[in-house]
Amino acid sequence: MNTITPDFYNYDWQPISSCHVAACGKVHLRWADGVALECHPWWLRENSAGPDGIDPVTRENDLDPALLDPSTHVATAEVDSDGGLTVLFQPEGRVAQYHPGWLRHVADGQHGPHAGLPPVEVWTTADRQEPATHDGVAVLNNDEALAAWLNDLVRFGLARLVGIGTDPETVGTLATRVGAMRGSNFGLMWHVDVDLDPVSTANTAQRLAAHTDLPTRETPPGYQFLHCLVNTAAGGESTMCDGLAVAEHLAANEPEVFEALRTLKWVFFNRAKDHDHRWIGPIIDDGDSRVPLTFRAFHPVRAFPSMPHEDIGRAYAAIRRFGALSNSAQFQMKYAFAPGDLIAFDNRRVLHGRDSFDVGPAAQRRLHGTYMDTDEVYSRLRVLNRRAATV
Ligand code: OGA
Ligand code: ZN
Repeated sequence: MNTITPDFYNYDWQPISSCHVAACGKVHLRWADGVALECHPWWLRENSAGPDGIDPVTRENDLDPALLDPSTHVATAEVDSDGGLTVLFQPEGRVAQYHPGWLRHVADGQHGPHAGLPPVEVWTTADRQEPATHDGVAVLNNDEALAAWLNDLVRFGLARLVGIGTDPETVGTLATRVGAMRGSNFGLMWHVDVDLDPVSTANTAQRLAAHTDLPTRETPPGYQFLHCLVNTAAGGESTMCDGLAVAEHLAANEPEVFEALRTLKWVFFNRAKDHDHRWIGPIIDDGDSRVPLTFRAFHPVRAFPSMPHEDIGRAYAAIRRFGALSNSAQFQMKYAFAPGDLIAFDNRRVLHGRDSFDVGPAAQRRLHGTYMDTDEVYSRLRVLNRRAATV
């Protein structure tokens, strides 16, 4: 049987128990456990293997619907003796066979953007006091360990590695193992330490309240990787807060604050000497299909209210309330950041920060970091998880 699937995964053979072509032309499939799938004839046609269909090498669809005869329809659809599906398309006379496990994964909703990813688990400090922690050397060297760490990262929005050493190259090596790094006005990778002429509040010894990086961008970086290279300074503990938990709390208990954060917009502006990034949006912006919210929360780059004058007072009040909750013991975990630790987190979901610290000749603190788009992390994790599921 030519049951090439339009992807590179291995599916269990899950025999179809019955099929029929409805009067409207759709093909109705059913499995023995009652799961059903309704297939549009043109969708079946473009997913059939062969010329002007699924290319056996790229596994992509080569059929341009504009060139498809509009009278194309399913003349017959039959379940084969082994439970596969065979369809005859007319007027072409094309016979196509389909892998029933591939059809079943569509019936089960395993084909959407959530495929191969763990569910989002919202947390407060009642649930978690420290990030989920994994062995850094294992993650650098072993795909199973990498998958376990990335699953925690995507599930909780943060996950830590320990014992990964203090080589400044490591954050790049680790990130490249996941996907393509995302550059910014700080470069592809950047240091966080105390500069004499800092370009950002980050490069001072000041406290950084719960925040997200680069809300000045249309799409702020999805993930951030921060590696501690040196830390002999007193203070400077790391903080992390699940923005989704604060949002849930506000939506349930203080809906007027939540509404102000969701709707009243600000201009974010990075004010660098050689860059001028600006974007406009609310403090709690729309997210993606998996993580529904994006937090634009960094006061150093929140520049101008863009709202009717009479709303500015409640916008500030809502920001104060959001800040109080995001930096509270109920929502914010706090822990030491030691040399050889590397933390990765969802920069649009989890608000990170640090305490102020002392610096001097014997007290230094130096981090090395990079960003990555969410798609990169998801793609790597889907491949790892779905390969593991079909070995
Ligand atoms: C930053 C930042 C965290 C830290 O540079 O934006 O959040 O621990 N740094 O210094
Ligand atoms: Zn930051």
